[in-house]
Amino acid sequence: MSEKATLEVNGKKYDFPLKTGTENEVAMDISSLRSATEGIITLDSGYKNTGSCESAITFLDGEKGILRYRGYSIEELAEKADFLEVAFLLIFGELPTKAQRDKFHTDIKAQSVVDEDVKKILEAFPKSAHPMGVLSSLTSALTAFNPSSVNVNSEEDMYKAIVKIMGKFPVLVAWAHRKKQGLPLDYGDKSLGYVENILKMMFRQPNEEYVQNKILVDALDKLLILHADHEQNCSTSTVRIVGSSHAGLFASISAGISALWGPLHGGANQAVLEMLEAIKNDGGDTKKFMAKAKDKEDPFRLMGFGHRVYKNFDPRARIIKKAADEVLEDLGIDDPILDIAKGLEQEALKDSYFVDRMLYPNVDFYSGIIYRGMGIPTDMFTVMFALGRLPGWIAQWREMRLNKEPIGRPRQLYIGSTHRPFVEIDKR
Ligand code: CMC
Repeated sequence: MSEKATLEVNGKKYDFPLKTGTENEVAMDISSLRSATEGIITLDSGYKNTGSCESAITFLDGEKGILRYRGYSIEELAEKADFLEVAFLLIFGELPTKAQRDKFHTDIKAQSVVDEDVKKILEAFPKSAHPMGVLSSLTSALTAFNPSSVNVNSEEDMYKAIVKIMGKFPVLVAWAHRKKQGLPLDYGDKSLGYVENILKMMFRQPNEEYVQNKILVDALDKLLILHADHEQNCSTSTVRIVGSSHAGLFASISAGISALWGPLHGGANQAVLEMLEAIKNDGGDTKKFMAKAKDKEDPFRLMGFGHRVYKNFDPRARIIKKAADEVLEDLGIDDPILDIAKGLEQEALKDSYFVDRMLYPNVDFYSGIIYRGMGIPTDMFTVMFALGRLPGWIAQWREMRLNKEPIGRPRQLYIGSTHRPFVEIDKR
C-alpha cells in the first residue's frame, strides 16, 4: 500500500502520510492539514472517522466481532484470568507473575480505607440520589482528600495513585449502594479476594455473617473483566481529554463516570432492564416494542442493541448471554425477563430494519439480567460497569500521560452570525 494519501483542494494537491497499526489498520495523519492548506480542517461529528490517539491497550474489530486486551482475546481472559490480573495487564501492559499479582493486591488493600470525612459528604446526599451521581461526586472528592499531584515522570508516584484509586473506588461503590439501602457503611475485609471483598462490602447485613457464594464471585469477576476496557469510547475519551489538561487521575475518572452514566453508553444496562420490565408489564408483546423502535417518529430505541463500532455480534454479549443462562440456573432463578430478552433478540436478528443497520445485541443487553439475579438493584447496574471499567480508564490515562499527548482541543466550523454592531438595551 502507498505510504501517503493525496488530497486535492481547488486544484492544489497535498500529501499526508499514512500510518499502519500492528493490526494493519490504516490512518491518514492529517496533523499538518490546517497549516498546509492555510485553514482547512476536517469535520467529523461524533468522531466516527477520527482517531484521537495511538494506543497499545485494546484492539477491537467491529466488523469481525474481535476484542483483545493487550493482544489477549476477551474470550480467553474471561475464561482463564481473574479481574486483578486483567487490571494489571491493561494498566502495565503484561500479565503479572504470581508475585506481581499478589503485590498489586496487597498494595491495593493497603489503600482501601477512605477518610471518615467522606462519609459526611455522602450523608448530605438525599437517599433518592442516583448512585452514579454519588459515585462521580465522591470520586471527585478523593482529589480533595489526596491533594498532592501525581508526578507522572515518577513510576512510583504513578503506581501509588493507581493502587489508591483501585483500593478506594470499591469502598465508594459499596457506600453508594449501602446509603441507598439504608445500611450502615462498611469497610472491606483484607483477608478476602478483590471481588469477594466487593460483594461483602455491598451486601453484608449488620446483624449477620456474610457467607460468600462462589457462583456470585465468579460471575462478578467475569462481568468486571468484560467491562474492563473498550478503547476510545465516550467515557474513556472523556478521561483522556480531561487528563490531557494535566488534571489528576481521580478528577479525570470522576468525569469518566459522568460520561458513562448516559443511557446511550453505560446507562444502557439500566435502561435495558427497565425496557424489559415495561414489555413484561405491558403483556409481553415484543412485536409492539420492535415496531416502536423502528418508527422514526417515536424516540424509543431498542436498548442494548446497536453499537458505534460493532457491526457484528458484540463478543462480550455472547459471553454474557451464556453466563446469564448458567448463573440463573446455578442460582435456581427462573426469570421471565430472560425469556423476553431472548425473544426480542430472535426477532431483531431476523428483522430487516436491524439486519440492514447491523444492529446486534451489545454488552448491556444481558448484563442487567445477571446483575438482577445476583440481587443488585437496577440503579446500581451502571455503577457495576464503572467498577469494571476502572482499570481501563487508569490504563488509558497513564498511556496518555506517558505518551506526553498534547491537550485535547478540537476545532469547529463556525456557522453563527457574522460580525454585527452591538445594539444598546433600550433600542432592542
Ligand atoms: N434501536 C433502534 N434503532 C437504532 C438503534 C436502536 N437501539 N441503534 C441504532 N439505531 C438506528 C438509528 O436510528 C439509525 O437509523 P437510520 O440510519 O435510519 O437513521 C441507525 O440505526 C444508525 O444509528 P446511529 O445512532 O447513527 O448509530 P451510532 O453509532 O451513532 O449509535 C448507539 C450507537 C450505541 C448509541 C446506538 O446504537 C444506540 O442508541 N443503542 C441503544 C443504546 C445502547 O444500547 N447503548 C449501549 C452501547 S454498548 C455499551 C457502551 O458503549 O457503553
